[in-house]
Amino acid sequence: MSAVPVLTIDGPSGSGKGTLARRVAQQLGWQLLDSGALYRLLALAGARQGLAPLDESGHAALAGRMNIRFSSDSAGEENIFLENEEVSREIRTETAGEGASRVAAMPSVRSALTERQRQFAQWPGLVADGRDMGTVIFPAARLKIFLTASAEERARRRYKQLKDKGFDVSLAALSQELAERDRRDANRAVSPLKPADDAELLDSTGMSIEQVEQAVLTLAKTRQLFR
Ligand code: DC
Repeated sequence: MSAVPVLTIDGPSGSGKGTLARRVAQQLGWQLLDSGALYRLLALAGARQGLAPLDESGHAALAGRMNIRFSSDSAGEENIFLENEEVSREIRTETAGEGASRVAAMPSVRSALTERQRQFAQWPGLVADGRDMGTVIFPAARLKIFLTASAEERARRRYKQLKDKGFDVSLAALSQELAERDRRDANRAVSPLKPADDAELLDSTGMSIEQVEQAVLTLAKTRQLFR
């Protein structure tokens, strides 16, 4: 049997990867891997167990045994569970993102999560979003997208997203946090944020989500990821 088709979407924070990945997966009827959520869950699980933020071996061990589950409700909202408790909202804060970015810089944490991520590749196909989906986790993916947008636009989008969810955030603080997180994600020694050599670069500045989705679906069709 041929390999499960995989479409990867990597890019910096706030580029719109998550929304895009969810929409494309829904359109194609494929599985979804929100890999950032795994790092967010791990940071939360570590904090709850009282692990020191820099305890690499503790986090790596936890990465292998934490009990997580993803499901989506009838409205298409993603529900995420840690040890059977719903934490969808808790892991979306910037504090959780910051914690995720820190544990994500630990090499043994990344290798502990590699196989868990690959298990998401199930028929009829997988859309995977993150930072290293095309470079490390699914190097043989049939289509790799590297999604960017200007720093201002990314901060504005993230601001709106958090506001819509009822979080009290400031645009200035958010811009600074995103810049710091991107710097850490792009400069770490293992699996830094960068486009795969064979990635399609897509700058979504000034584009609507519908336009970006259409561009990706057109590429997927051209590459015959689906009929
Ligand atoms: O996509 P996100 O904002 O939910 O990701 C949270 C953090 O996790 C991000 O700052 C970097 C890290 N991450 C990673 O290193 N590799 C991935 N594949 C996904 C996320």
